[in-house]
Amino acid sequence: MPAVDRKHLPRHIAIIMDGNGRWARQHGVSRAAGHEAGAKSVRAVVEACRELGRVEALTLYAFSTENWRRSKLEVDALFRLLSKYINLELENIHKEDIRVTFMGRRDGLSARVIRDLDRCVERTRTNRSMVLNVAINYGARAEIADAAKAIAAEVKEGSLGLAQIDEHCFERHLYQPDLPELDLLIRTSGEVRLSNFMLWQVSYAEIVSLPVFWPDFRKPHLYEAIAEYQRRNRRFGGR
Ligand code: IPE
Ligand code: IPE
Ligand code: MG
Repeated sequence: MPAVDRKHLPRHIAIIMDGNGRWARQHGVSRAAGHEAGAKSVRAVVEACRELGRVEALTLYAFSTENWRRSKLEVDALFRLLSKYINLELENIHKEDIRVTFMGRRDGLSARVIRDLDRCVERTRTNRSMVLNVAINYGARAEIADAAKAIAAEVKEGSLGLAQIDEHCFERHLYQPDLPELDLLIRTSGEVRLSNFMLWQVSYAEIVSLPVFWPDFRKPHLYEAIAEYQRRNRRFGGR
């Protein structure tokens, strides 16, 4: 297992969980079976972060606003899997003192999915050890457009002045303004692109792409990504 310095952990890690379809093809199984296998990786990574102790937030990209372009069969399988995962894992997550949050557009999600998500948020609301933030029906451009709209509404209503609109104000109108700054963004399957994920938050994040399909991702891969993060020299525009 790659060595990581537990004193300099990223406070907020996000993962673009990619490669389930290619993993499925490699194993001669359906894409749905690939997603099912990916759920095991979610469990492993949540556990590993919780164990590390100082990771304050883990954001997982589960379904993008563009993923509706996939076949109905696959979309249905993904949402069925999400409900199954919630039912199986919620009590465990709660016992681990993890608070669950979601980010994305509620519009477009079925009443059942919304009910499941709300139940998770409600059940874990007071937990404090780590935040598990799941991006569902999430698109970064949608998030930015929604923030602009919310700000415009406040200006129109008179509760916000034009002069008050700055980066901090804008940030407060994003979907999850209370999470720590994003430090490390991991993408699996070897792709190096953002696919409309956290465009605002990624500004000074370190990006690590690993050549492993998501269903094969386990604790050693997470440690490898953190070790790579710790080798980087973050300068934030200074020297
Ligand atoms: C990621 O795996 C899971 C989701 C997008 C929900 P993919 O399904 O994108 O897998 P590939 O990229 O086709 O291998
Ligand atoms: C990004 O992966 C979305 C999620 C992981 C949920 P995609 O597989 O959908 O992205 P592209 O199509 O390769 O850009
Ligand atoms: Mg993909």
